[in-house]
Amino acid sequence: MDPEFHPVSIQAGEGSWLIASDGKRYLDGNSSIWTNLHGHRHPKLDAAVFDQLGRIAHSSFLGLTHEPAARLASELVSFTNHPDLQPKLNRVFFSDDGSTAMESGLKMILQGFFQTGEPQRREFISPDGAYHGDTIGAMSLGKSETFHHPYQPFLFPTRKVMAPACYRCPFNHAKPQADDARHYRKCSFECVALAEEEIQKAGDRLAAWVLEPKVQGAAGMIMHPEGYAQRTAVAARKVGAKVLFDEVLTGCHRTGTALAAHSESVMPDVVALAKGLTGGYLPLAATLTTEEIFASFLGEPEKTFFHGHSYTANALGCAVASANLTLLSEREGEKQRNRVSQTLRQLSKKFWQHPHVGDVRQEGTILAIEIVANRNTRARFPSKERRGAKICRAAQEFGLLTRPIGDVLVLMPPFCSTDEEIEVMVTSLDQGLRKEIPA
Ligand SMILES: Cc1ncc(COP(=O)(O)O)c(C=O)c1O
Repeated sequence: MDPEFHPVSIQAGEGSWLIASDGKRYLDGNSSIWTNLHGHRHPKLDAAVFDQLGRIAHSSFLGLTHEPAARLASELVSFTNHPDLQPKLNRVFFSDDGSTAMESGLKMILQGFFQTGEPQRREFISPDGAYHGDTIGAMSLGKSETFHHPYQPFLFPTRKVMAPACYRCPFNHAKPQADDARHYRKCSFECVALAEEEIQKAGDRLAAWVLEPKVQGAAGMIMHPEGYAQRTAVAARKVGAKVLFDEVLTGCHRTGTALAAHSESVMPDVVALAKGLTGGYLPLAATLTTEEIFASFLGEPEKTFFHGHSYTANALGCAVASANLTLLSEREGEKQRNRVSQTLRQLSKKFWQHPHVGDVRQEGTILAIEIVANRNTRARFPSKERRGAKICRAAQEFGLLTRPIGDVLVLMPPFCSTDEEIEVMVTSLDQGLRKEIPA
């Protein structure tokens, strides 16, 4: 950690703005690490918290239940299911954050197989660079040299396949162009073939294919070519394995649809939701699964899913999550999200004017700009130069707060952002870029 680093101290928020204790205002360019959806201090979300606070903030969920959790569970079933897609996710398990939602998802799958006569299904496959959180199980499912290196001996082994990153794919023979690499890729979808092959090899030892569908966030906002999630899920099901989708980032309309899975016409057997679940207000997560997996836990007491957290189904979190789902379902909200996505798409063309921009990609309201040392060869800057971090630090001076992933710059505005605010975000990031790497 940089000993010279002094974090901005945030005192308040208002819509897309964060206000520091020295009074300086910043645009929240990554929606407070991908959590916030409708802006800060949204009156309806504030009211949901205050209203619940008037009854109770929290009670245990072990052997007890409460109305906000029961209501939210039923709303989540409607929200995540799609009328044309199978299987249906009818059962909801609450936890606290993205890591615990994934941790419970993987345990659910392992125990489910254990209790239905397939205890040998203990393997997981996921793409390189996958990130599912910082607990040991979630780290084992993921793969990040930077994050996981010191813990490697403690992580259980999982299989990895090439991440479908068109811009950096060795099978993509297209010369670099000023466009999202997925649009001009020249390949035969080798990424799918390789995943299918690995899945096939694991066969009846495979417990689950694990994927952040459409966008691998912490890997560098890797955006997958259309059809990847769908085709790999089909391959996993052919060998009798489950499909575990991590929609901690992509869920709740971040990529356009309620679940990213919907736009790929595929449903997982287990899905993890967190981050945007409470509109960015409180830590709450949900892992949804099928009736079939749920049924494998019924019967003798030892079949119970022994997994619980002290704050499981926190009532304040459940109340605000319900209010969030209501906002997401409103026609006005849909119009807002579409406008933010279109404005970002339009304004982000500006980045191509900079010679060190190699790829600009977008899904819904997630925009990623990859900086390179050489646009023609896609060569990276040496990582120790920390260009991405420096650009974002410079953008801060122009009133924008966001975090890069290596040399990938990220803009992910809250859905409430006006066109003018998005323009300031794009301009500030561009100014930061030009300050650090003069064109
Ligand atoms: C796709 C994905 N899964 C899981 C997590 C972990 O979530 P949390 O930080 O809430 O534990 C993250 C966090 O960035 C994520 O992006």
